[in-house]
Amino acid sequence: MIRPSLSVIARRWLGFGVGCRYVFLESGVSMSRREGYVIDVPYPLHFHKEMQPVWMNYIATSLGCAAPDIRSPYRYCELGCGAGINLLVAAAGNPLGEFVGVDFNAGHVALAQQAARSIGLDNVQFIEASFADFARQEHEPFDFIACHGTWSWLPPQAQASILQSLHRYLKPGGLFYLHYMCHPGATRLTAIQKILHEVSLTMPGDSAEAARHGVELLRRLADNGAGAFEDNPGLRDELAALENEHLTYLAHEFLTDYWRPQHSADVHRIVAQAELTFIGSADCFENMDSLSIPGAIQPILSGISQAALRETIKDTARNQHQRFDMFQRQPKALGAEQHLLELDAVRFMAMASMPPAGPLSFSTPIGAIPGPEAIFEPLIRALLAGPRSFAELRQMGAFAGEPGVLLQALQMLMWAGYAHPLRPDGSVAQQAGAFAEWLRSRAVALSPLAECGTAVMCKREA
Ligand SMILES: C[S@@+](CC[C@H](N)C(=O)[O-])C[C@H]1O[C@@H](n2cnc3c(N)ncnc32)[C@H](O)[C@@H]1O
Repeated sequence: MIRPSLSVIARRWLGFGVGCRYVFLESGVSMSRREGYVIDVPYPLHFHKEMQPVWMNYIATSLGCAAPDIRSPYRYCELGCGAGINLLVAAAGNPLGEFVGVDFNAGHVALAQQAARSIGLDNVQFIEASFADFARQEHEPFDFIACHGTWSWLPPQAQASILQSLHRYLKPGGLFYLHYMCHPGATRLTAIQKILHEVSLTMPGDSAEAARHGVELLRRLADNGAGAFEDNPGLRDELAALENEHLTYLAHEFLTDYWRPQHSADVHRIVAQAELTFIGSADCFENMDSLSIPGAIQPILSGISQAALRETIKDTARNQHQRFDMFQRQPKALGAEQHLLELDAVRFMAMASMPPAGPLSFSTPIGAIPGPEAIFEPLIRALLAGPRSFAELRQMGAFAGEPGVLLQALQMLMWAGYAHPLRPDGSVAQQAGAFAEWLRSRAVALSPLAECGTAVMCKREA
């Protein structure tokens, strides 16, 4: 869940509950946790562009995989949907999609259902169920299954239930998006998490209050020379970042009983048990090894063919702390000609944040990467003039005979939030206006972008 570029987008909506109760009293269930997961305070809304269907589809295409056809009706499921913001965005912007959210937190599901009703969305459904229960039910298969901010916080049995759902419900060719915390970047957080979690087991009050006590204790340790903070100055930065977070976010992030970063190689082996294959990252920067891996490491990487070791080395080279992995059931690689045809059909548009035409500097996890003027000046100028297809863009002089250069340049613009692929179907998103109004009325800092079937972060006073 930790990601510097994401901020809590709506405190008001969740912070002032709407009569939902977050207390469960089933046998064997604590007041504050269910299956080890925090349930007594609501999780704030976080939007993730990478799990939207248009984005996932394009990423699969860019990786040379035959993606689900989103020009005709399709089905999409989010496991652990929280209060549903990602599905509300998806449903409002993608009339051809039928969306299903699953979560065992009755309060979250009630908020999501109420939102869908007031916006007038009839292509989204929220199911209150545990992953174990959902895996046992009967559902039509899905073209997409997504799970964000959930996997690393689950007990092994709940992870097994997710695998079971993937096995039962993901269509051949279907895509699975899985976000999780990973080594080595998240490893240092284990010390912080352990203290926060142990504090929460003894403190009275709700999980947000427990998180506050835990953060205060960490601050005393950091300020009084505790060796962990001295040896690992990065821990001070982590703590400073936590102190700026909302307490309910920290409660969900750190107080669950099973929080655990994993190595990507291990996660890939686990997901393979559901007969899915890792195809790449939904974070398009990470799919460009030539840019996202420091140059001196690339010769080392190119000598290694074993996939698990390569991914582990990449995680180490980037000090990766979270992953946005995409898997596919029975992936079909596109031939070179077909790949180009599929790319050619995609249209891109400039977002409001697109900088003026000229050279760029991308601020990336491995430092600033210059975007050469010869490439970005004409590309940005073309996109600022209106949506353009890949076929049109690659006719431009800068990209003649170099579709790979265009592909990378577009991915950098997408990654930076400057450009986005358009939804490929011509259908009209009927509820876009109602959704925009709902977002405004709840002070949710998002604007719908129906042409792209997604939304963008915006400034809004909470
Ligand atoms: C941190 S939230 C993530 C929400 C959303 N996916 C996002 O990224 O903003 C994790 C969600 O998973 C749900 N959850 C955790 N364990 C679960 C389980 N075993 N069955 C169903 N839902 C579960 C929680 O209730 C919570 O709403």
